[in-house]
Amino acid sequence: MYVVKTIAEVRAHVAAWRKQGKTVGLVTTMGYLHEGHQSLIKKSVEENNRTVVTIFVNPMQFGPTEDLESYPRDLEKDLKLCEETGARLVFAPDPEEMYEEGFVSYVDMNGLTNHLCGLSRPIHFRGVCTVVNKFFNIVQPDRAYFGQKDAQQLAVIKRMVKDLNMNVEVIGCPIVREEDGLAMSSRNTYMDEKEHKAALILSRSLLLGKKIINDGEKDPKKVTEKMIELINSEPMAEIDYVEIVNNETMEAVDKIQGEILCAIAVKINNKVRLIDNFIMNVR
Ligand code: PAJ
Repeated sequence: MYVVKTIAEVRAHVAAWRKQGKTVGLVTTMGYLHEGHQSLIKKSVEENNRTVVTIFVNPMQFGPTEDLESYPRDLEKDLKLCEETGARLVFAPDPEEMYEEGFVSYVDMNGLTNHLCGLSRPIHFRGVCTVVNKFFNIVQPDRAYFGQKDAQQLAVIKRMVKDLNMNVEVIGCPIVREEDGLAMSSRNTYMDEKEHKAALILSRSLLLGKKIINDGEKDPKKVTEKMIELINSEPMAEIDYVEIVNNETMEAVDKIQGEILCAIAVKINNKVRLIDNFIMNVR
């Protein structure tokens, strides 16, 4: 497995593979890798001859009061996981390699980003779209893998690829959870045992929502009300949003029908903001 820090090196490796007729899969990450990230790498290794993993804590997607400085990092451990899982190339650039002096170009979006996480993180998706677009241009993969854990991010990337005619197939992968139900996240390490326990209220509330919908409820308000009630029963939890939206447009629905996304964001102990969701196809 190659580990490189420059764009030129990535391009040289990918060009050599292309000459040999190899297909290339891409997994973009911010590092501190866990089994969720690993599931994307595995899928890419299965479906492509070569897999590239990027590890880059992208400053552009963090707001001024967010956790850019404290975001967990452990490159050595990450490299081991990548190698064991079958990645062939890891691109772990410094910020200066990605954002040269004088950088002024962005990929931005209206609509999809004015909902859910876009409301409390106004510059976030501009940063995500810009950096993912850069990785697509640098690696030029056949396929790129993203987790359903970040449902809005996946929808935003799919839309960007469609709107801007990017030559890459975007593949969504299921949420990987801890045994107790907590969705895996690099940010889970911010929590102690008590906070971790409190955070189970996220997956529990989603299970409740799922059950109510399965029992036939069509009114999204009735579902989210019950979920909110449950989350509020946990003293450490503070709700950012609990929403049922159209899974493509991210717009709130007034009837539960078709492919819906039930997405939540909850702060635990005023310390860590967690997201989780489920998708459902309702007749
Ligand atoms: P990061 O949070 O490191 O996540 C990298 C990829 O792993 C994303 O596609 C995310 O959805 C996926 N992922 C994270 N936790 C997961 C889980 N429990 N199950 C399944 N997939 C999971 O998302 C980002 O980084 C950044 O915004 C990035 C796309 C790299 C752009 O900077």
